[in-house]
Amino acid sequence: MLPDGPLGVVVPILYIIAFALFIYGLSGLTGPRTAVRGNWIAAVGMGIAVVATLLLVRANWIWVVAGLVIGTLIGVPSARNVRMTQMPQMVALFNGVGGGAVALIAWAEFRSSTGFLDEPLYVVIATMFAAIVGSVSFWGSLIAYGKLQELLPGRPIGLGRVQQPINIGLLVLAVVAAVVSGLGGASEWWIIAVLVLAALVGVLVVLPIGGADMPVVISLLNAMTGLSAAAAGLALSNTAMIVAGMIVGASGSILTNQMAVAMNRTIPAIVAGGFGGTQAAVSGDGVERTVKSTSAADAAIQMAYASQVIVVPGYGMAVAQAQHAVKDMAKLLESKGVEVKYAIHPVAGRMPGHMNVLLAEADVSYDALKEMDDINDEFSRTDVTLVIGANDVTNPSARTDPSSPIHGMPILNVDESHNVIVLKRSMGSGFAGVENPLFFLDNTSMLFGDAKSSVMEVTEELKAL
Ligand code: TAP
Repeated sequence: MLPDGPLGVVVPILYIIAFALFIYGLSGLTGPRTAVRGNWIAAVGMGIAVVATLLLVRANWIWVVAGLVIGTLIGVPSARNVRMTQMPQMVALFNGVGGGAVALIAWAEFRSSTGFLDEPLYVVIATMFAAIVGSVSFWGSLIAYGKLQELLPGRPIGLGRVQQPINIGLLVLAVVAAVVSGLGGASEWWIIAVLVLAALVGVLVVLPIGGADMPVVISLLNAMTGLSAAAAGLALSNTAMIVAGMIVGASGSILTNQMAVAMNRTIPAIVAGGFGGTQAAVSGDGVERTVKSTSAADAAIQMAYASQVIVVPGYGMAVAQAQHAVKDMAKLLESKGVEVKYAIHPVAGRMPGHMNVLLAEADVSYDALKEMDDINDEFSRTDVTLVIGANDVTNPSARTDPSSPIHGMPILNVDESHNVIVLKRSMGSGFAGVENPLFFLDNTSMLFGDAKSSVMEVTEELKAL
């Protein structure tokens, strides 16, 4: 509720400025060149919204300041020190904390209204929605964090056929507990039951989701946190929470949908563990196969005499920080009359747009970056495809092996090109933990080593040609 007097005018004006900055900042995130500025603009908007909200607070300031100080002491160093490759788990963790905060707000609302005595129905419904979705999002995000940080096994961990009935049963029980808490004057144990049952749903839904589907899940949890924050805003009559929550909820839902479409998945099927969820990811079938390894000199000769080379970057390029070396190599190839293009898979790396950001940092022209659908037909006409630290996004078993945990996920049809050179350190699997038959094909040779060192060696050999 807005107070009477000048604050009743100032706060709404500050909120409107903050919302305009959120939306303007978000529009900056549509491209790597404007993303940093967009992020700053949205952060300033959030700062203004926080100040405006604090102007409304008639609470014990010591608690508010203590919360801000502790949050800043944890948040700033962890955001500054996180490596680019750990960004998804950071996003999962920060997102989860948002969901957890919303769940606690719902609990506090229950207590401050003495169990919803005399609260309007819309407040009760919004609070219970926030409690369930916030708790699911918090615990689900913690599991996603654990998997990405490799504190938990990345493979699906499920209960098999009984998984879905158990999940649905727990969700129904959470809703029943929410209805009882909302009837007015119920014991506090009921809202605790809501939070615990929803926590179990969050854990049990995310545990069975396997490697390659994790990006979609993180995005979905992000959207859910936004929606729960909007619901909490409705319960507290706080416009800032409603608007910020709806922006996160809407943009997160659009991103989730786009990623699911790109991965040829449906969101209900991912949540139900329908892909990669019923079987453990495999790292090999025990059958001995041979691979051809190559040298930097041979790779340089193959590429120097090609008319087109397609570079397929993946997570390993990010780990090796090889993007500048790749740009230098491509420049040299272009000076020899070779056309160089980059094939970008929507989930290559560990976050949406990961490869675009790295290549933009190395000043690779946008025109050379081709999305999967635009380049997939070109592989069969390409002399050499250079796979740099990419694995799952090139795995042909996604196309050909119905028993593969990643079956159905669209991949870059790298195997169709005349020659494939794969740069990686070992025969190790990628994020999904599945073996990649690409490495054993007749037209594939492996250049083992750190991607940056290998690319630099190839460049030296190219200079000598
Ligand atoms: P991955 O399948 O994870 O494979 C990366 C490969 O890079 C590994 O096989 C690794 O092999 C190699 N590598 C690591 N460090 C290297 C280095 N220093 N030099 C050379 N190679 C190195 O990567 P991808 O093909 O980009 O696929 C991404 C995967 O992550 C997908 O399964 C996707 O679903 C998942 N995922 C994506 C996101 C988003 S939104 N992009 C978020 C979370 C998860 P070696 O160890 O043998 O070197």
